[in-house]
Amino acid sequence: MEIIIKPTAQELALVAAEAICEVYADNPAAVLGVATGSSPLPIYQELSRRVKSGSLSLSRAQAFQLDEYVGLSQDHPEAYHNFIRREFADITDIDPNAVYGEDGLAADLLAECQRYEQAIVDAGGIDIQILGIGADGHIAFNEPGTSLKSLTHPAVLTAQTRSDNARFFDGDIDKVPRHALTQGVGTILRARKILLIATGSNKADAVRDMVEGPVSISCTGSALQLHNNVKVLLDEAAAAKLERLDFYREIYANRPQGAWLGL
Ligand code: GLP
Repeated sequence: MEIIIKPTAQELALVAAEAICEVYADNPAAVLGVATGSSPLPIYQELSRRVKSGSLSLSRAQAFQLDEYVGLSQDHPEAYHNFIRREFADITDIDPNAVYGEDGLAADLLAECQRYEQAIVDAGGIDIQILGIGADGHIAFNEPGTSLKSLTHPAVLTAQTRSDNARFFDGDIDKVPRHALTQGVGTILRARKILLIATGSNKADAVRDMVEGPVSISCTGSALQLHNNVKVLLDEAAAAKLERLDFYREIYANRPQGAWLGL
């Protein structure tokens, strides 16, 4: 993992956007993996700025969502397809019909997960995946206890995740769905490049477990240690509990310019 620490979310978004621009400079039809949550929002805003200034085009891109709640109505503002449309697709030039997500209203949820996994494969796989991390170390909706080889599957959300996400549902945990469809840890590990962004002190424990903890189902983000093209983008608060903080700063300061270190 390449650990990159910057003072503000905006500076982290610049690093992320730069990495995404490199991918699209090589291949304008690259496949982008998009995440929900508040952490990636500055990245989408920076991508939007670059599209508007003409330095990036996503007009030939495809994008795949990580996850989707089960059972929210099609027009529910917190349904993840609506979140991604609002926060990403509407502010860039991506073709809205080339943005895909799991159908959380499918009659057969297992079949829907298999269809979605295959759709990612058929698109050629994800070239660059944006990720956040939950306070309990989950990536997408892969809660603690999920197999690190899991593919897209229906997930039961933990009380911690539902309580964290209640802020999007009028602060009422009872309005937060109990289930979701999510790319598995194994699906995420197939992405060619991964950008994980975490900001704020409430992510510090999860970040420490992900970067320095044992690879374990107790923190599904720790599986990213097994991937060789991950940039972990942190502000000081999210990085605060890392034991080898000085070492990561030193590596970053002395890295070969623009390299994906494969650490
Ligand atoms: C949800 C999403 C995750 C996201 C997490 C953190 O659980 N399924 O993909 O990483 O929220 O969200 P935030 O960035 O708002 O803290």
